[in-house]
Amino acid sequence: MRKNIVAGNWKMNTTLPEGLKLAEEVNAAVAEAKPKCDVVICVPFTHLASIAAIIDQNNLGLGAENCADHAKGAYTGEVAADMVASTGATYVILGHSERRQYYREDSAVLREKLALALANGLTPIFCVGEVLEERENGTFNDVVKLQLEEALFDLPVADFTKIIIAYEPVWAIGTGKTATPEQAEDMHAHIRAAIAAKYGEEVADNTSILYGGSCKPSNAAELFAKPDIDGGLIGGAALKCADFMGIVNAF
Ligand code: 13P
Repeated sequence: MRKNIVAGNWKMNTTLPEGLKLAEEVNAAVAEAKPKCDVVICVPFTHLASIAAIIDQNNLGLGAENCADHAKGAYTGEVAADMVASTGATYVILGHSERRQYYREDSAVLREKLALALANGLTPIFCVGEVLEERENGTFNDVVKLQLEEALFDLPVADFTKIIIAYEPVWAIGTGKTATPEQAEDMHAHIRAAIAAKYGEEVADNTSILYGGSCKPSNAAELFAKPDIDGGLIGGAALKCADFMGIVNAF
């Protein structure tokens, strides 16, 4: 059966000392809480190796927030998937709406990143989601299905089953406006149906689909109670150990 997962996305927050302190706190809290879900933190590249050295990855997974769309070479400032893997990290967020919006990442680029992440043994947390206009004009189901089809649905099944999906409605990210549990569940069921149509019911049943967008301790339990919501991808609330653990413990 699919896993329940709560993953933090720290985005561009924390200096290295601040990040080490937060990771240490979360590591200790997870060890004590023995959560009913997998817990992961995705952190800035600069922090990966140092955090890998101080956490117990049997309890707390570690990931990057991005990786390059090339394997190596003259791409100043980029970080390759094998570099991420060599730090000890095992997850990578790909296709986050902030990467799509601010860095013009399209499905073609994301296919390259996915292939490199998978080739280097990283578990992609692949984000999809509509913008406010698409929510309001009613095209959101088609938009998200197209994001899945363009980036993921050419993968062989053995690769697809390694991927975690995160539904993050862009209008809910960092805005305090959470999708209602019903809106989120409808989209998660729609995503799972699209996976079933492509790869079959068993694969769809085994795919973890996380919700992201203003998820916090006060709304996590009702989101996670929905049958197709298998956890969360957490931004702001992942930056405080108590808030993050409040979400983890919602399972
Ligand atoms: P917030 O939880 O801050 O809304 O961010 C969600 C997100 O983008 C996680 O990737």
